[in-house]
Amino acid sequence: MTDLTVIKGDSTVLRDLRREDLRRYRWWWEEEIEWQEWDAPWETETRGDAAESLRKLQRVLDEGDLPAPRRRLEIETASGRHVGWVGRYWVDSAAAGWWEVGINLPERSARGCGLGTEALALWVDYLFSELDIVRLGMGTWSGNHAMRRVADKLGFTAEARFRRARPVRGCLYDALRWGMLRDQWRTLRAGWPGVSVTPGAGCDPTGGRIWWRFPA
Ligand SMILES: CC(C)(COP(=O)(O)OP(=O)(O)OC[C@H]1O[C@@H](n2cnc3c(N)ncnc32)[C@H](O)[C@@H]1OP(=O)(O)O)[C@@H](O)C(=O)NCCC(=O)NCCS
Repeated sequence: MTDLTVIKGDSTVLRDLRREDLRRYRWWWEEEIEWQEWDAPWETETRGDAAESLRKLQRVLDEGDLPAPRRRLEIETASGRHVGWVGRYWVDSAAAGWWEVGINLPERSARGCGLGTEALALWVDYLFSELDIVRLGMGTWSGNHAMRRVADKLGFTAEARFRRARPVRGCLYDALRWGMLRDQWRTLRAGWPGVSVTPGAGCDPTGGRIWWRFPA
């Protein structure tokens, strides 16, 4: 069994998967599936079924031997509500050390109040601390305005636009890619003004404006 990872921000916590999360995953894969319309919706046919996805998570829990550094972490609000996850994926071969980050908040009530931006910042920070890499990438499609805005808010550099490459619900959108270099992140962190998290229906904690900073 490996040590547990817990990374705390002001409004979100990144932590390892727990057995009790599986019920919520079942819900996100079988019932509350709207997030799939935003996360690589062109993969709908190849995404794999809910049962297989759950079996994979079950195996992770059964084996209890999580990779260090982690390949994914769960996102909780400060009050302990599990609202999504962050992950990292190879773009190229393992030897190239070229990773991309991803994020999903299937809980719709938790979106749009800054939690995703904070969670992704914590994740990028963790990966630059734990991996010997010089860059991290991120991608989405031009119709995903929330994700585009998160990339902008975090200071990722737009690096590529593949025009009309993503077919989504009968339209062709552009594929967009961003990058963050280790030195760029260090500079951004040093002068970070914070990300505002605004109160909202499903957004907690709250009462006022919360400003967060990366751990020193
Ligand atoms: C994308 C996602 C992770 C972002 O997390 P989040 O907590 O909603 O993001 P934040 O609240 O930190 O920031 C979202 C920003 O996008 C803006 N936004 C959201 N929808 C928008 C729209 N349709 N048009 C323009 N801006 C939009 C918000 O206003 C906010 O910007 P602001 O802080 O300047 O007001 C989350 O919305 C999500 O999981 N969506 C569904 C699945 C998904 O898209 N996954 C990513 C696949 S690449």
